[in-house]
Amino acid sequence: MDYSKLSCPICQGEFTKDGNALRCCNGHCFDIASEGYVNLLPANFKKTQLPGDNKVMVNARRDFLGKGFFAPLALSVAQRLMGASAILDAGCGTGWYGSQIKSILSNGNTSPYVCGIDISKFAVRLAAKSGVDCAAVGSVFNLPLKDCCFDAALTVFAPLCADELFRVCKKGATVVTVNPAERHLIELKQAMYGIATYENPPENAQKPLVSSNGDVLFEHTHSERLTFSGRLEGASELSALLSMTPYLYKTGEEQKSHLLSLNELSCTFDFYIDVYKKA
Ligand SMILES: C[S@@+](CC[C@H](N)C(=O)[O-])C[C@H]1O[C@@H](n2cnc3c(N)ncnc32)[C@H](O)[C@@H]1O
Ligand SMILES: [Zn+2]
Repeated sequence: MDYSKLSCPICQGEFTKDGNALRCCNGHCFDIASEGYVNLLPANFKKTQLPGDNKVMVNARRDFLGKGFFAPLALSVAQRLMGASAILDAGCGTGWYGSQIKSILSNGNTSPYVCGIDISKFAVRLAAKSGVDCAAVGSVFNLPLKDCCFDAALTVFAPLCADELFRVCKKGATVVTVNPAERHLIELKQAMYGIATYENPPENAQKPLVSSNGDVLFEHTHSERLTFSGRLEGASELSALLSMTPYLYKTGEEQKSHLLSLNELSCTFDFYIDVYKKA
């Protein structure tokens, strides 16, 4: 792992490696886990004991993404990040997008440096083994990263803090966000809630990313909608998809059982990809 872009979440001091730990210039010390990731979310920064996605959701995401259903999305995002040499995956989950994008953008002996940050330690444990260069537990609202060291960032279905992205990105950096579009997973919802299921609200993103004071931090430069479909077969694929969504906890047992009893489901995947530039 390459920890060179990490910084202390308590004092922003620079780290040096000290055996199996990272120690900052002010003596704050964080162990490196056997998988190679570092937990940079101090206990007093947490609102709950185990913040972020839980183990069930994270394992479901690993199983679903591992089947390649979202490969066209990873490819589209990678195309927007071409030429970047240091990429932050903010809210990286299992590290699937970061590692896919790293391999898509690899060229001969060169590949971009990719760092994944997520608040869920279950997710980061998997991200550390996904092929990214660095993975750390931390919050997107207090990124444990040095200033101005990334020329690109992505945030896929994750919370976004424009102020922090601005701080860690270089001038001219590209930020790509992915959010669900209206028909995302519509058949999954119909299978559980009936044919009159609502669509997701339309996107409201084609405007700059602004600071908490309303200052423009990133100009919006491009928006596209990417829609494709996949055929899920059997209870294990359906259960993996259901379990990585918030519907897992919003749906009654009877509705979930109905979904899982289907032999197959053709499902729409519908995304908005938005691109921003740091001025
Ligand atoms: C829907 S998942 C998406 C994960 C990944 N980007 C993907 O698409 O596979 C949202 C992720 O955001 C993480 N998350 C939630 N709040 C966060 C925060 N404040 N800082 C960092 N990550 C956070 C969750 O733990 C979860 O892994
Ligand atoms: Zn420190």
